[in-house]
Amino acid sequence: KMNVFVNGLMGKMTIDEKIGHLNLVTIGAATTGSVVNKGVEDKIKKGAIGGVFGIWGADHVKEVQDLAVKGSRLHIPLIFGLDVIHGHRTIFPIPLGLSASWDMGLIKRSAQIAAKEATAEGLNWVYSPMVDIARDARWGRISEGSGEDPWYGGQVAKAMVQGYQGSSMKNADAVMACVKHFALYGGAEAGREYNTVDMSRIRMYQDYLPPYRAAVDAGAGSFMSSFNTIDGVPATGNQWLLTDVLRKQWGFKGFVVSDYTAVNEMEAHGLGDLQAVSALALKAGLDMDMVGEGFLTTLKKSLAEGKVTKLEIDLACRRVLEAKYKLGLFDNPYKSIDASRESKDVLTPENRAEARNITKHSFVLLKNNAQTLPLKKAGSIALVGPLADNQRDMLGTWVVAGEWQKSISVMQGIKNLVGNGVTINYAKGANITQDSMFINRLNFFGQQMVTVDKKTADELLNEAVDAAKKSDVIVAVVGESQSMSGESSSRSDIDIPESQKNMLKALAKLGKPLVIVLFNGRPLTLTWEDEHASAILDVWAPGTEAGNAIADVLFGDYNPAGKITATFPRSVGQIPIYYNHKNTGRPYDGKGPSKFKSNYLDISNDPLYPFGYGLSYTTFGYSDVKLNKTQLKGAETLTATVTVTNTGKYAGEEVVQLYISDPVASISRSVKELKDFKKISLQPGEQKEVAFTITPEELKFYNSQLKYDWEPGKFIIQVGTNSSDTHTASVQWSK
Ligand code: IFM
Repeated sequence: KMNVFVNGLMGKMTIDEKIGHLNLVTIGAATTGSVVNKGVEDKIKKGAIGGVFGIWGADHVKEVQDLAVKGSRLHIPLIFGLDVIHGHRTIFPIPLGLSASWDMGLIKRSAQIAAKEATAEGLNWVYSPMVDIARDARWGRISEGSGEDPWYGGQVAKAMVQGYQGSSMKNADAVMACVKHFALYGGAEAGREYNTVDMSRIRMYQDYLPPYRAAVDAGAGSFMSSFNTIDGVPATGNQWLLTDVLRKQWGFKGFVVSDYTAVNEMEAHGLGDLQAVSALALKAGLDMDMVGEGFLTTLKKSLAEGKVTKLEIDLACRRVLEAKYKLGLFDNPYKSIDASRESKDVLTPENRAEARNITKHSFVLLKNNAQTLPLKKAGSIALVGPLADNQRDMLGTWVVAGEWQKSISVMQGIKNLVGNGVTINYAKGANITQDSMFINRLNFFGQQMVTVDKKTADELLNEAVDAAKKSDVIVAVVGESQSMSGESSSRSDIDIPESQKNMLKALAKLGKPLVIVLFNGRPLTLTWEDEHASAILDVWAPGTEAGNAIADVLFGDYNPAGKITATFPRSVGQIPIYYNHKNTGRPYDGKGPSKFKSNYLDISNDPLYPFGYGLSYTTFGYSDVKLNKTQLKGAETLTATVTVTNTGKYAGEEVVQLYISDPVASISRSVKELKDFKKISLQPGEQKEVAFTITPEELKFYNSQLKYDWEPGKFIIQVGTNSSDTHTASVQWSK
């Protein structure tokens, strides 16, 4: 049916209209480059635009859709996209935080709510999920993904795609997902934004490509190409990537859009002038050109000169039309433009309540000495730090339609929960940073990135110390501001900014319990904090319900269970750092630096907090791993079982993780790889058996011929509470 319809329509389209259909423009809002399109209204009427991004709101979208549906020759509806990354109006934690929940049901739910709110405001296409694997916390966009593990990244990708697209993209509350950034964008050298990526094919297939593949398997409708080069060729013009891998190997049937002016940027990459790079991109398999209008302005000339074919233009046009068909836009171009839904479905108390729940599941307890947390709902607390009474920095990166004014500050959240039961002694204590490099910058909304108080640093600090002296416990809310992570926010130093650290140092000297509530869009280096704070609760950038969710956890109404999905280094010098590294020929022996081993002279190889790490207010005991067999053959199935006991005094949840090592193979394998996990709840004293089923599928890897298969031999099965703390048992598996 779709073919017949699209063929019919394409039969009526002129070559100009077909090329126009590949043109995606922005009308403003969030711009991440220098170009904003001009003359949009006329172009829509002429059929020179296929999609629009950067606007939302039923009335506004309707007005623009009218231009196409009523004003253009063939009445082809536009597709409306936006960067809905972790919620539309009701903002959830940044994706790195969401991933720390290890709860696919909740992650999917966050995408469903985002889709419902986005469609209520006229949108039908979201630039999410971002599934780039990242092993370098200097890269600001690590905040937008699910961390470092390829298998886990695939699980999250699937949950998000399913959440956005629902059972059918034709549903009024479903949007089309756009998986980005294809591919390997998180591998940018030195963590520097927009930088070169260069890696072996084995590493690509084994460690970086799986989440994109999982998104294709989950039925994602569209992909966005990345800014970087791959094997020297920009992803946006890379035929191997966009056609051979994505379509031929993986069977992707949707369309590919470029990133913002990524076609034009191939000129700076050194691939030729705009006409040449536009032709290159089309031929490689790119279907839609975001903002730069290289397709619009050069493809007709390239066709006349024989540099592209009509077939190539038709193919791209067909794919974009098919997306609109799958979204049901030809049945009803206004299907999600319903002003009554805007007031009914957006930022509702129900959505906020779900956000509060999802948000508290994303928090990770990094340290908790002597059960400092949870706090008592009595006595006095010094609530200090530049993020304590702050709404602006609650939402995190990429919240195009999110309004910080609607967010709950930590101060407000605590008051909401404990009322007058607790005396709060507040002081700002420090500016987020005093560093002029940050202060003098603007964020992408054109606002000053960091604002500085009129008081001097000493005055602020003294106020915090005074507040602390009057209080039983200090809660310091510190870390990164909203725009310190995200796009174009690479940092070479990933400590808590000095101004805040000075405050923490002064507070630590008082000898009172010191709780750090940490805001961060990336793993930070927290060696000093880990040594000196009594407790550290990582809340990422928590979203609209920030303060309420933080209060729930600080005061023990919810016991935190999140686990980090990106390794926290001790020092920036350890980066890139990730748990699934190779052994090397001279492995580090875990006993500290020693000569002629693969280690540093001045620091251990171990991270501060390993992948999968996170504490609870309770404690969990693990039994040894029991296997139902130790010798297996072919397609047999192995069952690995552990008994987990809640050995503490609070009810709690635990993420039980399964890793497998393959110590002898035809290539050097990672020391271990995550293969499964189970999240369980236990009452104090309760025990549960957790069983994992392992088949040869879990043993497969890409060999040097890029064949995905398993090799017989010994396998070490590891089950534990994080990637470093596991119980092991081994099996022999023959073919
Ligand atoms: O979706 C984004 C992408 O992640 C980075 N560049 C701009 C795009 C559209 O806003």
